[in-house]
Amino acid sequence: MNVGIDAVAIHAGKLRLDLAETLAPALDEEPEKFTKGLGLHASSFPDVEEDIVTMGANAAHKLMERKGLTPDDIGRIDVATESAFDNAKPVSTYVAGCLEQVYDEDFHHANKGERKFACIAGTQSLDDAYNWIRAGRNRGRAALVIATDTALYARGDAGEATQGAGAVAMLIAEDPDLVTMSVEQGFGSADETDFLKPNQQFPSVDGKRSVQVYLARMREALEDYESVAEETHPDQFEYIPFHTPFPGMVRKAALLGYRHMIRDTEIEADLASAIGEQPRPDGFDDEAQYHDAVRDYMDALKETDAYAAWYDDTIEPTLDIARHVGNWYTGSVHIARASALRSAREAGIDMTGKSLLLGSYGSGAQAEIHAETVQENWTEEIDALDIDEQLAARRDISFEEYEEIHDVHNHDKEIDIDAFTTPSEEFVRDGSGPMDERT
Ligand code: HMG
Repeated sequence: MNVGIDAVAIHAGKLRLDLAETLAPALDEEPEKFTKGLGLHASSFPDVEEDIVTMGANAAHKLMERKGLTPDDIGRIDVATESAFDNAKPVSTYVAGCLEQVYDEDFHHANKGERKFACIAGTQSLDDAYNWIRAGRNRGRAALVIATDTALYARGDAGEATQGAGAVAMLIAEDPDLVTMSVEQGFGSADETDFLKPNQQFPSVDGKRSVQVYLARMREALEDYESVAEETHPDQFEYIPFHTPFPGMVRKAALLGYRHMIRDTEIEADLASAIGEQPRPDGFDDEAQYHDAVRDYMDALKETDAYAAWYDDTIEPTLDIARHVGNWYTGSVHIARASALRSAREAGIDMTGKSLLLGSYGSGAQAEIHAETVQENWTEEIDALDIDEQLAARRDISFEEYEEIHDVHNHDKEIDIDAFTTPSEEFVRDGSGPMDERT
């Protein structure tokens, strides 16, 4: 049975915070730290009348309209988020409530839930929907998965430059138009405490450690995936979309993944002779000596033409959207997939039948690797994305506006929403708190 993603719709936060021109001078940082080091140019920032419900509902509504669906076509709604505001009622019920305002039918028949495991929850929700359909429990209906987050950090936190906000709605169905998902999965999971939000609005983060934890879990997931997949060779995949908290993180993950996938292959032997190193820095009794050897090997590997060409073709196209929106937490890896396929479309690459390898990750911590196969109607789905128009329509904000709006999202400030809200056809928050009505 072929099950996977039938359609995708994206909703980006309506404001734009420029990192080089606005954030860097205000924080007394060099703009290049953000643009080159982290690889980010801007954050998509949520306006005061936006939250995870409005963004999720707007993405879902767009998707349903485009596919000509009504609530009766959908048997399951899962929201993946780490920005939830209600410990009992799932965000999917709020989203369904919004959607029911515009359709004659309701979602009384649909199983609704909320998935939490930091950023990986978006992919876990896809897995749940996939399993539900493969088990034959869906009675011909599709599943709606919505990954929605306001990924904000406390002001002054090292993560401030990586903020973002947006939602990705995905329809999971049998014989999908976009990609099928592989049965094979690989996991790397451990109890970690580098990124936590225990009843608090913004995370407590040990940023440097979080980078190491991401890499460690991703390596474990790759190893686990290799134990069940028939073949894992870097050239087998047209694109490898990773969870992208910032593109600099993916630079590290891609190098680690490449090294892992080429080991014991002819590529590794060729590269090893080209960089004058032994194929793998094995055979050291002393741990420090071993780590130095690994670092030297990785540095040399990164500089090879073979690696640079692979990175440019397989990884770079996955980062185009992230550079202009920042981290969307649960939506991030799904933005990376969309970015890659959009880039293939622009380059005229025929993706039908080609493979993607998804590297999902969530703090806490868990990584998941699975493969996807692009389906023949993929071009229609990618052409329907309006992300470029949305990004171009964003309003640039000054640092002073940013501070005000940031306070509102931290519920530090009461505001008159009506004074901000521009009349629109979209769902917007209709008050000053997260529990307010949305219209
Ligand atoms: P920092 O410590 O302030 O930055 O914040 P840094 O000093 O590490 O510099 C960043 C990079 O910029 C470095 O590159 C510098 O060399 C370079 P690298 O050496 O790493 O390749 N740099 C420059 N480059 C050019 N010109 C310059 C310049 N100056 C410096 N002038 C940190 C970095 C990651 C700690 C911070 O952004 C942070 O705390 N972020 C939040 C946590 C995070 O995103 N972690 C990523 C892994 S965990 C994850 O992905 C899960 C997550 O999405 C949450 C979830 O799952 O729920 C976060």
